[in-house]
Amino acid sequence: MSDKIKILGIAGSLRKASTNRGVLRAAAEVVPEGVEIEIFDLDGMPLFNEELESDPPQIVKDLREKVRSADAIIFATPEYNYGVPGLLKNAIDWGSRPYGQSAWEGKPAAIMGASGGNIATARAQYDLRKSMVFLNMFPLNKPEVMIGGSRDKFDAAGNLTDETTRDHIAKAVAALVEWTRKLSS
Ligand SMILES: Cc1cc2nc3c(=O)[nH]c(=O)nc-3n(C[C@H](O)[C@H](O)[C@H](O)COP(=O)(O)O)c2cc1C
Repeated sequence: MSDKIKILGIAGSLRKASTNRGVLRAAAEVVPEGVEIEIFDLDGMPLFNEELESDPPQIVKDLREKVRSADAIIFATPEYNYGVPGLLKNAIDWGSRPYGQSAWEGKPAAIMGASGGNIATARAQYDLRKSMVFLNMFPLNKPEVMIGGSRDKFDAAGNLTDETTRDHIAKAVAALVEWTRKLSS
């Protein structure tokens, strides 16, 4: 790993005004010096098909390449029906195959999420952590970023407006950078 740290951000929502996409944009604005966050857009990714896993559609090849070249990952996800949205799980499944060639292997990661409710994506986040055990990823434990009551913290375009939340995201990004450096040393 070079001194520069590359983080790949992936959101679990396709909405143009997605607050979770907004979380990634906010994270990209508060990165420490020498760190960059690139956001990967899952729009257009087809459903996983094991028959295609060795020669997948171009967007899947792009995802795998971006994940492999990233030093760390940030997932920003809504909670759908108490779990990880299919969109995000689908991308994780594509990235994990063929068996033994997972792009996620050994990657440090932070999980963030925003929702209108009080549970603030906690169930989806722990669902995602469970997959990370099998993927042999290294999720950051703390600080957790669970943003409830998102209607009051983002504008109509999905941009973060709440400064306390912005500070919290900055702390989590800094902790992810430290965690990434620790794991690579
Ligand atoms: C199919 C569906 C299921 C949902 N299930 C939950 C849920 O289980 N828990 C929750 O807190 N919010 C739930 N929501 C609300 C989303 O968390 C909320 O719409 C969130 O802000 C969407 O994120 P986004 O702004 O990034 O698109 C659900 C929304 C949809 C569309």
